[in-house]
Amino acid sequence: MKVGIDKIGFYTPKWYVDMAKLARARNEEPDKYLIGIGQTKQAVIPNSQDAVTMAANAADQIVNDDNRKKIDLILFGTESGIDNSKSAAIYLQRLLGLPNTIQSVELKQACYAMTAGIQLAKDHVLAHPDSQVLVVGADIARYGLHNAGEPTQGGGAMAVVISANPRILAIENGSAHYVADIMDFWRPLYATEALVDGKYSSKQYIEFFQQTFAQYQKQHGLEISDLQALVFHLPYTKMGLKALRAILPETDESHANQLLREFEYSRVFNRQVGNLYTGSLYLSLLSLLVNSESLNETQKIGLFSYGSGAEGEFYVATVQSNYKQALHESTITNVLSNREELSIPDYEKMFKSQMPLSDADFVTDYEKDSAKFYLAGQKDQQRQ
Ligand code: HMG
Repeated sequence: MKVGIDKIGFYTPKWYVDMAKLARARNEEPDKYLIGIGQTKQAVIPNSQDAVTMAANAADQIVNDDNRKKIDLILFGTESGIDNSKSAAIYLQRLLGLPNTIQSVELKQACYAMTAGIQLAKDHVLAHPDSQVLVVGADIARYGLHNAGEPTQGGGAMAVVISANPRILAIENGSAHYVADIMDFWRPLYATEALVDGKYSSKQYIEFFQQTFAQYQKQHGLEISDLQALVFHLPYTKMGLKALRAILPETDESHANQLLREFEYSRVFNRQVGNLYTGSLYLSLLSLLVNSESLNETQKIGLFSYGSGAEGEFYVATVQSNYKQALHESTITNVLSNREELSIPDYEKMFKSQMPLSDADFVTDYEKDSAKFYLAGQKDQQRQ
């Protein structure tokens, strides 16, 4: 039985900052951000959006009444959780009008959590073929202003429905994992911004990719030439390019050029959003599916997921016939085309205006937010 991705939804808030203007404001060459980092726009997350509301806005695009009857599990990947105890998945169950009889759990392993959710969902559907699983990844990538991490911020949410006989991608059995206890990027419980050893993290990412890719090839007899495209977790889009270049010597020139061409399609959307943390790989996958002109049924795509700390996974999925019809292309492109640019001072102001960590009641700027789901504020230490 084939199991995999039947639907994909994407949401990012309506504000962004232009990366060439941000570079000038930081006394950097614009090409450093545009080419060296590989980002043209960066999503700016208002205080009226959090991981839960962004996930609800992404999932609402794809969950219909038929899914409401079949979904019996929600897996919510995030490292921007809003509570140390209560799962973000419970809020989502209510906001989406899903039955109270389902299982709902939050998963955490930095940017890897959504992949963990997808693989667990696949096994769940293999055991219960009539059921469907809603897997979401929602995050806000924050390093702070005026530091090296700033051009790699961003945020947003991805949502997928995992089912039998999927219309978009069937996930192949087996995947390669690599885990090691390292400190490349982390966020202590008291911190609202991540701490990072940036150069080390980029180096580890490539090592984990090579390790899992080689392991998968060995275990499953995969040749690089079997893959039409490779998609990567994209903390910034140059990162995926560096990883791809690390394995290109393993293939001939024409296949290498094809992989590079498909990579360009897979970073179109991520270039305009920045890092979504756990959703980034799946935004890149969506970007490839929407923008590539040469993807066909039965072709195989390699997917590399990386979450700092660190855990990597490489797996393979097969494109399904009529996948284009299952993608809500206009909804997706509207999310990106209907955004408003912020000046650098307005971006800095929005960036600094966050819900306090203390128990103070707080009202957000929700009047400016046109999303269906938004955070109105906090009252009696409860999010509204
Ligand atoms: P930096 O110190 O600003 O970088 O930090 P740099 O000076 O090395 O420049 C970056 C690139 O721009 C270089 O290219 C320069 O040559 C190039 P590279 O050597 O990398 O190929 N450059 C130019 N190119 C064209 N024209 C120019 C120009 N000037 C310079 N004029 C860094 C960069 C990524 C380290 C920083 O932004 C950072 O720390 N980011 C956060 C960490 C990160 O994203 N790590 C990625 C791997 S870890 C991961 O993916 C997990 C994560 O998503 C978290 C999770 O799992 O939850 C982060």
